[in-house]
Amino acid sequence: MKPFPKNFLWGAATSNVQAEGGYLEDGKSLNVYDTLEVKPEIGDVPVASSTAVASDHYHRYKEDIALMQEMGFKANRFSIVWSRTHPGGDDGIMNEKGIAYYEDMIDTMRAAGIEPVVSLVHFDMPDSLYRKYNGFYDRRVVDFYADHVADIARRLKGKVKYWITYNEINLATWGHLVAGADRPEGVSQAEFHERITHHTMLAHAKAVLAIHEADPDAIVGGMEAFSPVYPATCAPEDLFAADFAQKMRSFLQFDIMTTGDYPAYYKTLLKEQGVTCELPEEDRAIMRQAAKELDYLAFSYYSSAAAKGPATKEEIAFGGGGRYSNPYLGANEWGWKIDPQGLRISLNLLTDRYHLPLFIVENGIGLDDQLVDGKIEDDARIAYHTAHIKAMEQAIHEDGVDLMGYLAWSPFDFLSSHKEVRKRYGFVYVNRTKDDLKDLARIPKKSFYWYKNVIATDGMEL
Ligand code: BG6
Repeated sequence: MKPFPKNFLWGAATSNVQAEGGYLEDGKSLNVYDTLEVKPEIGDVPVASSTAVASDHYHRYKEDIALMQEMGFKANRFSIVWSRTHPGGDDGIMNEKGIAYYEDMIDTMRAAGIEPVVSLVHFDMPDSLYRKYNGFYDRRVVDFYADHVADIARRLKGKVKYWITYNEINLATWGHLVAGADRPEGVSQAEFHERITHHTMLAHAKAVLAIHEADPDAIVGGMEAFSPVYPATCAPEDLFAADFAQKMRSFLQFDIMTTGDYPAYYKTLLKEQGVTCELPEEDRAIMRQAAKELDYLAFSYYSSAAAKGPATKEEIAFGGGGRYSNPYLGANEWGWKIDPQGLRISLNLLTDRYHLPLFIVENGIGLDDQLVDGKIEDDARIAYHTAHIKAMEQAIHEDGVDLMGYLAWSPFDFLSSHKEVRKRYGFVYVNRTKDDLKDLARIPKKSFYWYKNVIATDGMEL
């Protein structure tokens, strides 16, 4: 292994709605994750736990940050929960207790020598914005979001350098959890897709400008969930399916963020679907300016994907058409394929297309860790991260990728996006089950000591 760049940001990432609990404490309102009715990822046995306590990070953040410090974190990504800082959503009123919580969290990180990386909108839109406005489907919500971000940025000026405007913004067209929106009856999938894309891209752009206006030294990135899409074979129709799936699933939002306009393949698709797609000039101007000001691209990486033709563009874009299960890769219990080389491929694809610094802000494996005699031997997690860090090292040294850091998912265990406790990602075990909160004790796993050594040796010892 060759050394990682100077000031490489080693650390991990948390989605605070999934970790905090305290879901109605100190003025917080319910958000779309709190009210989400979950279908289990696999099988039909209910998995969801209430978000009332989650991992109780709301009360135990100092202990959690002390453990991050013990691991030697250089950076920690977390999300500022919209429904905690602006519980009304549409009234512009900041909840002082809510923002004070994050201020103290940031101060605690800084005192521990950890650089905070702040995400905005991580599955946490106030539920009232979903119910009253249908979330980002409604243009007014773009401005509520922009006001929320501007307020936070002004308040945290000088305390936070690294910002992420919106978690996995390319998944916003899925609707509810990510964009607080459902497709209204009578609206086609293409129309819904365009409207959500327009509004979330404009929201992102306004956030970039608002954060830079509040603090010209801030470093602001857009973020996606990224998977490279492989063709099932070298048959041309498979290649076409993979290429179009790649564009629609993960290039689209980065293409818009970096140019300020819709790319030709998207405009053409919409036209074919009978959707008018001219962005208003006023919005385009904001988006173009934000494209100029964008400092880096952040992404989560868990797995690669594959596609098989023949499939129409419409099927690929709106119906999950062309999806193919790669037979060459193993998977975890939840069927998430394990593909470290896919991370190197992703880093190369993104570098070649955008020529911007990249930041891996989520990468990890969900496992049903077992506490045996007070210990958790999570060798599969160590193997997963080892292989991905090696792939990242190759991308930097052999391919010339400009990478800012590696934030693993996650520092400690908390609820999955499907509110499942059993699917754990942390380096620190949180002692609870789906229905039994037990003592919520924090127990470092084997991977905790392993990651600590990785950071201490700057990736030289894996
Ligand atoms: C990302 C999200 O999609 O993946 C996280 O940003 C999420 O919030 C993570 O928890 C892992 O996915 P899951 O579904 O296993 O929790």
